[in-house]
Amino acid sequence: MKRIVVTGGLGYIGSHTVVELQLAGFEVIIIDNLSNSSKDVLKGIVNITQKEPTFVELDLRDKQATISFFTKYDNIDGIIHFAASKAVGESVVNPLLYYENNVTTLITILQQIQKKENIPFIFSSSCTVYGQAEQMPIPENAPIQQAYSPYGNTKQIGEEILLDTTKAVNGLQVISLRYFNPIGAHPTAEIGELPIGVPQNLVPFITQTAIGLRKELAVFGNDYPTKDGTCIRDYIHVVDLAKAHVIALKRLLSKTNTESFEVFNIGTGKGSSVLEVIESFERVSKQKLNYSITSRREGDVVAAYANTTKANTILGWRAISSLDEAMLSAWNWEQKIRKTN
Ligand code: NAD
Ligand code: UFG
Repeated sequence: MKRIVVTGGLGYIGSHTVVELQLAGFEVIIIDNLSNSSKDVLKGIVNITQKEPTFVELDLRDKQATISFFTKYDNIDGIIHFAASKAVGESVVNPLLYYENNVTTLITILQQIQKKENIPFIFSSSCTVYGQAEQMPIPENAPIQQAYSPYGNTKQIGEEILLDTTKAVNGLQVISLRYFNPIGAHPTAEIGELPIGVPQNLVPFITQTAIGLRKELAVFGNDYPTKDGTCIRDYIHVVDLAKAHVIALKRLLSKTNTESFEVFNIGTGKGSSVLEVIESFERVSKQKLNYSITSRREGDVVAAYANTTKANTILGWRAISSLDEAMLSAWNWEQKIRKTN
């Protein structure tokens, strides 16, 4: 059985990917420092898969502890690296935290695995690297724009580090997945997104408003040059996104990749406006959402949705869940966690 290390494997996207890896027959070793997750997530993973992954509580900023980990687990077959800090606003206030947690830790891991032969490496990148792209849907070869935030910059730097390292280290094979907007939860409602404090992202803010935790959703601007004036994003169900990691990993393990560093957009290819997301929520939850239009949020791009041709043709992956299915799963998850907490 192939052993895969998943850093940040108790987080939102990581936990869904651990589930898909275990269902696909991989053995998983999770590294997480619980800075943005909890050990309870393990229970959800076990309830879905009937299998407990190995969990190692470790802060990847601790270089010695990370070296010890890779010395102990010296026969691994791949790494999926999710662990990072991801709050855009916080990264503006505390950039060094972001460069340390997102860039230094990547370097530490690469220093360890470059000593080993041929370990496939999957990196969590983001559509934020495109900024406001001119071409829509956005292809992978669209120009990278200057990052708006230190967080976005860590993803650009991360990709550059990986590209340079694959050129220098014989046998290192990397796939960077540029996620668009992940939403939703596992259909069993055993795992999902657990934002700490007031959610910055649209979908958890919608579900928390509907459940009564927030008074109303502020829609940030309706004067954009779009069909209804609100911003357009590509909302992808987190389970579809998780499955893309398993497929990318299999590509590297089977050595069907043609280049040592490949980049794929992971989105649905469909753009939805903020109002369409609200309508979808109202449809699946059968209730009206309390919202009002406010001013624009600084830094928001007008539109971003993926050209997924490369992932469709080369990876043989495509998103299958609809926006309604994703919104229903997010709503079921919200109701479940508020009942149990
Ligand atoms: P998350 O915060 O839910 O998960 C990250 C996990 O990593 C958490 O469990 C956290 O405790 C852990 N972690 C953080 N720093 C660590 C460290 N130093 N050592 C060990 N563990 C550490 O985030 P997520 O939404 O699952 O995102 C996963 C990855 O995907 C991140 O790299 C993120 O930047 C990227 N990404 C996320 C989005 C999104 O909208 N969620 C979009 C694009 C890219
Ligand atoms: N929005 C609102 N009200 C809210 C929250 C969001 O109207 O309370 C709107 C935003 O203006 C935007 C859309 O909903 O038009 C989506 O906003 P999110 O914050 O959910 O997502 P973003 O596209 O802004 O950013 C997300 C992640 C970033 C990542 C980026 C690209 O939060 O970390 O996708 O991957 F960099």
